[in-house]
Amino acid sequence: MTLTSPAVAPVARVARLRTYAMTPPTHFTVSYAINPWMDPSTPVDTDLAIAQWLRLRETYESLGHRVHTVDPHPGLPDMVYAANGGLSIGGHTIAARFAFPERGPEGDLYAAWFHGNGLGPVHRTVGIQEGEGDFLVIGARILAGTGFRSHRDTHDEVSAITGLPVVTLELVDPRFYHLDTALGVLDDENIAYYPPAFSPASRTLLRTLFPDAIVATDDDAAALGLNLVSDGRHVVMTDAAPHLTELLRAAGYDTIAIDLSELLKGGGGIKCCTLELRGIDKEVLVSPP
Ligand code: ARG
Repeated sequence: MTLTSPAVAPVARVARLRTYAMTPPTHFTVSYAINPWMDPSTPVDTDLAIAQWLRLRETYESLGHRVHTVDPHPGLPDMVYAANGGLSIGGHTIAARFAFPERGPEGDLYAAWFHGNGLGPVHRTVGIQEGEGDFLVIGARILAGTGFRSHRDTHDEVSAITGLPVVTLELVDPRFYHLDTALGVLDDENIAYYPPAFSPASRTLLRTLFPDAIVATDDDAAALGLNLVSDGRHVVMTDAAPHLTELLRAAGYDTIAIDLSELLKGGGGIKCCTLELRGIDKEVLVSPP
């Protein structure tokens, strides 16, 4: 009998099939600045943005996920960031109420899309909230950002509508103005995040709630590496955060790198372009995938 040191069992990560809504960047440009990433004097290659977006969509489909398309609208260049359109969970759909007038009309357009695709009744909050930009579902609770866009009061509104506990997290760095720019949900239990984006109290809370969290560096966060989409096993993320990629791989996730550099000019990445439609009977959706 030979003595061997005990092998470290690899963590088996399990994927769950998802349904997403995405809006093509047909009218994408940077014509105003509502976050520090946006500079209207920077030229934008809309065709390149479309090609990069298509690659993201194909990636989801190649993983077996369903992707529904929301029609883009001229004059609403940020509509490509579909995550901001709302929050869909367990049959409850909440459409966004945007902080800036430049994006205001998107709230009604996303509400109409939800309604027209069998996701009604569609709830509207009294307060300003920007959908999955600031509300991230993890298991049976919701992590909610505030500080720049979504108002604190809407955390209670969303909890009342969904019946789920909502954990308030305060964002303090203007570069990370939405929760999904500073924190990525990996599965029903774990997250990756960038602690300096949060207030000291929220950092302490995150450390307590997620002792096994993957902690991103300045460079990871500055590349919007945390703006990722995970199905529990496959993590679709930027190709520009090699350190974070390595940590995720070491933790047993399969990372898939996507270049969404053109859409970064609007201050958004992979997660921003992806709205998850959760807990719904897939047949309810009437738009073709
Ligand atoms: N230009 C958009 C804005 O400032 C980017 C939104 C990014 N979306 C997100 N989920 N983080 O509103």
